[in-house]
Amino acid sequence: MNYIDLRSDTVTRPSKAMREAMANAEVGDDVWGDDPTVNELQELCKELTGKPAALYVTSGCMGNQLAVKSHTNPSEEIIAEWDSHIVKYEIAGPSFISGVQVMPLKGIRGVLNDGEVREHIRPDWYHYPKTSLVCIENTHNRAGGTIYPLDEIKKLRKLTSENKLKLHLDGARLFNASVETGISIRDYSSLVDSVTFCFSKGLGAPVGSILCGEKDFIVRAHKYRKILGGGMRQAGIIAAGALYALKNNVNRLKEDHRKAKQFAQELSKISFVDIDLCSVQTNIVVFKTAIDASGIRTELSSKGVLLTNEGIGRMRAVFHMDISDDDLSKAIEAFKSIE
Ligand SMILES: Cc1ncc(COP(=O)(O)O)c(C=O)c1O
Repeated sequence: MNYIDLRSDTVTRPSKAMREAMANAEVGDDVWGDDPTVNELQELCKELTGKPAALYVTSGCMGNQLAVKSHTNPSEEIIAEWDSHIVKYEIAGPSFISGVQVMPLKGIRGVLNDGEVREHIRPDWYHYPKTSLVCIENTHNRAGGTIYPLDEIKKLRKLTSENKLKLHLDGARLFNASVETGISIRDYSSLVDSVTFCFSKGLGAPVGSILCGEKDFIVRAHKYRKILGGGMRQAGIIAAGALYALKNNVNRLKEDHRKAKQFAQELSKISFVDIDLCSVQTNIVVFKTAIDASGIRTELSSKGVLLTNEGIGRMRAVFHMDISDDDLSKAIEAFKSIE
């Protein structure tokens, strides 16, 4: 069956043109710093973010974990939103890799309250770990692709600067936020010490993410990338897909947002669906169901529509470049047929 796959925006397959760019990529040994395509990608990301250094990494998880490792020392503490990817889905990476403890704080639609962050910065006392880093996520995956307001990031920048803390932005889907708000990647990045974004989500490339920051920070991250086995040799083959994505697939993200919003509007008319339409800001639709979500998932899957569910009453649909308007209509029909 040809599935309409709404499980994630990571399921996209490279287009013919992207594959051609990859096949034709000039390559070298990137562990030696010799791969011209990886170097071009890193240069472009420096330009996009305004950061002095950039490092191509295997995944969003690796970008985040290298950031935590490079900003902290063992026995310190980091503050992150309790439902963020770093806390929820990176298998206690901060404790495993960096030896730091996470202080998870609950945000509203993924946005931390700066006053609460302030309250949780540890005073300098020998009983306490030192707070060294605050992490934010834009867009916020589990909150439903919600956008972190620029003014809220500014408040955190002020707070972290005053307290000599670092601020890391998990921007796995930062381009979704940027095309929706018109705020540039550079403007978002200027407010944080480090930023990651993924090429393999809405941008449609097969592999990789980037980590950007100050030079000394990236020097440390580069060493840790090597320790974690993230040194890749002729990585230009995959970096070419990322370059192609940056040059061709950014503006079209608006299409995914339009479809997600239309899908959410239609779902809101279904009796067993409980959806907060204000949380549908980009390409992700998260909603609750009054009937067993895993049963709905199985039934939809038999109709050719794939979604994810977590627990009995929470579902997620993610829109991406491989979902056409026709697929959108079919997915809506499949949902309505369950009622
Ligand atoms: C917000 C966020 N950060 C990081 C990641 C990790 O990316 P990867 O799957 O490439 O490790 C994801 C993946 O879904 C994500 O949604």
